[in-house]
Amino acid sequence: MTAFSGGKCHEFTEMQPFTTMALPATARFFCPIFHDDEIVPVLQQFYKDQLPIQILGGGSNTIFLQDFPGLVLQIKTTGIEVVSETAQDVVVRVAAGENWDSFVKYSLQREWFGLENLAAIPGTVGAAPVQNIGAYGREVSQFIERIEGIDLDSFCRRDYTKLESSFSYRDSIFKKKVSGRFLIQQVLFRLNKKEILDTSYPDLKNFFNSPETSQVNAIQIANAIRDIRSKKLPAPEIIPNSGSFFQNPEVTEDVASALKERYPEMPLYNHRPGYKKIAAAWLIEFCGWKGRWQNHCSMYDRHALILIHDGHASGKELYHYMTEVIESVFRVFQIELVPEVNMIGRFT
Ligand code: EPU
Repeated sequence: MTAFSGGKCHEFTEMQPFTTMALPATARFFCPIFHDDEIVPVLQQFYKDQLPIQILGGGSNTIFLQDFPGLVLQIKTTGIEVVSETAQDVVVRVAAGENWDSFVKYSLQREWFGLENLAAIPGTVGAAPVQNIGAYGREVSQFIERIEGIDLDSFCRRDYTKLESSFSYRDSIFKKKVSGRFLIQQVLFRLNKKEILDTSYPDLKNFFNSPETSQVNAIQIANAIRDIRSKKLPAPEIIPNSGSFFQNPEVTEDVASALKERYPEMPLYNHRPGYKKIAAAWLIEFCGWKGRWQNHCSMYDRHALILIHDGHASGKELYHYMTEVIESVFRVFQIELVPEVNMIGRFT
């Protein structure tokens, strides 16, 4: 791979190496950012052209379906600093380009607790709040204090409190309202000094095979999750993928009861009052897509929520495969699957 230097823009750059789905597509301009002070000069260079801007972290949740006609900023800034500390907790500021899982390990080594259930999620710290990453009963928003960054319209610094960030299941203001208009530079986390553990998620309960959570510590939980994830999720270096491809759909209690009556084995989860979540993986498997290859794409045969390809799929093929899965689930259940990945480009 070519060595790219920080703050320098490169034309017509192949995006395949920078996303875990690794589809062939170029970016009109590509610019890695190693230091925060490189950002504004790069933006000023393109200000007059009003180019669309795509911010990239580890590329594990972004899929370029087509060539991108704008500017891709790849955030590679690093740095972790303690902002304040009490006997109960610590507030820590982390640069957006830090690797998420390395930060989880770093925090646990220092006995800062909370992120253990979010171990082994691919991507960067700056990407974590965008889709409010969540796993094994926890969401990152539970530990976020503030987001610091730059407003891309005014080039001025702007902070978002947790409340202003409008976090919900796999969603935030950064994913929708200010997407492409705000660049996250640092995330501030408030982490506990005391272990408050959660092993209630079925996979974790099974792993420890004992309800005695007091015998388990945070590092053991993180290690268990690494083990569980490595067994059922494909490594992107070997099989291109973006993790969970669809969100788990939410239905009202009434719809959930009707579905349960018809399909007693359908897994339903409590989510928020009046609603239930359905395991999208189960719906997809029920419709026969698990392990079914078509046009170089398949839903993974060890976990039906992961869309994989054989390294030769085009964006168009992947898009059509996804559309067929959505349509087939809708025909059977009248439930519309919504992609959780960020797809750039579309086809009709
Ligand atoms: N299931 C199937 N077939 C499969 C796989 C799963 O029917 O092939 C059913 C099983 O009944 C299982 C249920 O689906 O109990 C749920 O599966 P799992 O526990 O693996 O969780 P998930 O809902 O599919 C969510 C997150 C994952 C996260 C896990 C664990 C979303 C979109 N995905 O997946 O997040 O790791 O829970 O907490 O919410 C990611 O976002 O990339 C990601 C991996």
